[in-house]
Amino acid sequence: MPSEALHLRPAAPRTTGPEGAVPVAHGVHWIGALDPGLRSFDVILKTANGTTYNSYLVRGTEGVAVIDTVKAEFAPAFFERLEAVARYDEIRYIVLNHLEPDHTGAVPELIRRAPQAEILLSPRGLPMLRALLGEAFATAQVKPVTTGHAVSLGNRSLAFFNTPYVHWPDTQCTWLPEERVLFTCDLFGSHFCDGRLFEDRVDDFRHAFDNYFDRIMRPFRSFVISALDLIEPLDFAMIAPAHGPILRAAPRDWLARTRALATPRTKAETAEKVLLIFYVSAYGATAQLAQAIHDGAEEEEGVRVSLFDLEGADIGPFLDLIEEADGLAIGTPTINGDAVRTVWDLLARLVDIETRGKMGAAFGSYGWSGEAVRLVETRLQGLKMRLPEPGLRVKLHPSDEELEEGRAFGRRLAQQLTGRAPPREIDFAELAAR
Ligand code: FEO
Repeated sequence: MPSEALHLRPAAPRTTGPEGAVPVAHGVHWIGALDPGLRSFDVILKTANGTTYNSYLVRGTEGVAVIDTVKAEFAPAFFERLEAVARYDEIRYIVLNHLEPDHTGAVPELIRRAPQAEILLSPRGLPMLRALLGEAFATAQVKPVTTGHAVSLGNRSLAFFNTPYVHWPDTQCTWLPEERVLFTCDLFGSHFCDGRLFEDRVDDFRHAFDNYFDRIMRPFRSFVISALDLIEPLDFAMIAPAHGPILRAAPRDWLARTRALATPRTKAETAEKVLLIFYVSAYGATAQLAQAIHDGAEEEEGVRVSLFDLEGADIGPFLDLIEEADGLAIGTPTINGDAVRTVWDLLARLVDIETRGKMGAAFGSYGWSGEAVRLVETRLQGLKMRLPEPGLRVKLHPSDEELEEGRAFGRRLAQQLTGRAPPREIDFAELAAR
């Protein structure tokens, strides 16, 4: 654990931050930057408390490693802090746990100043690094690392754990066993700017931690659980993320909190497969079709089917249900050549949860052109869902025969979920040919 002296360090102003590099553990300094004015991250996430870009410097008897950097506009503060504790010719390794620009903005200039440094990153980070460096990539010292790889700094070492999709495919964690510090980049982060840096010194940030998980990590929650399983056996005394407070007082509590956040929110009430059917209906025709699909699916044993009219509904409460469902069918009329706004609102929110691999389907009534069903299908495929059936479209109100086709459509969807029908997936070429 960190020494008592570290805990007694005078509090720094909340948003202006500490002067110079900040000791984090023996041989480890924080050399990051504060961004108290940030109000929107990646365009999608409001950040009322700003954020920090945490970068760390690890010194060993045989060199120095820099772990992650900062957003480009904060590079001057990063270099000033770095220069307070190391020379550029001492830098042996630059560890890039994740290549999103908020962590790599200072990398091109850093390798210009420290060309001898070897860049360590996951294999999936290579294309991003090539794009980041441009021509400089050709002369950079680059070494892909993954779980099982380690490098030495003399009396300290760094080991790597491949933890993809927390938050991009390239993400990894870096372990400093001699000080029991785990550097996790986005994982365990929070958009919360407080210059006192440490969990036990800053204001209450639990809301920011949870919100960060919901908006950044939740779509990848199964990957988060895999990452937690991989790193939990480590005897860590500190989690050093790349955003927000450094977790040193109760790091395992934050791991447990993250595991709880990544665990299904709705407890499965049944061992049956779950099919949710959402629809919007202008004149009742799509509603009739939705009911027929529901009734057909219900004929299949082992499937629990639920039908929801989206008109007037808040989308938020449905997200937990959808996250736990096995299949999703969405019905929309075509109005002005498009699906209706409420349906798009639902589809837009699906980016916040894990949808990869779920079964999807679309259906709807139309008057003239009927594009909406195909547009919804395209969106579902974009969400990495599996579409086993071409969408079901009917002109105006469904006839008795079309209602029977709706019931058959529902039965086939249900059979895909139970496995009584062979797994099937349509592709874009098939869609285009229709
Ligand atoms: Fe903090 Fe995914 O970048």
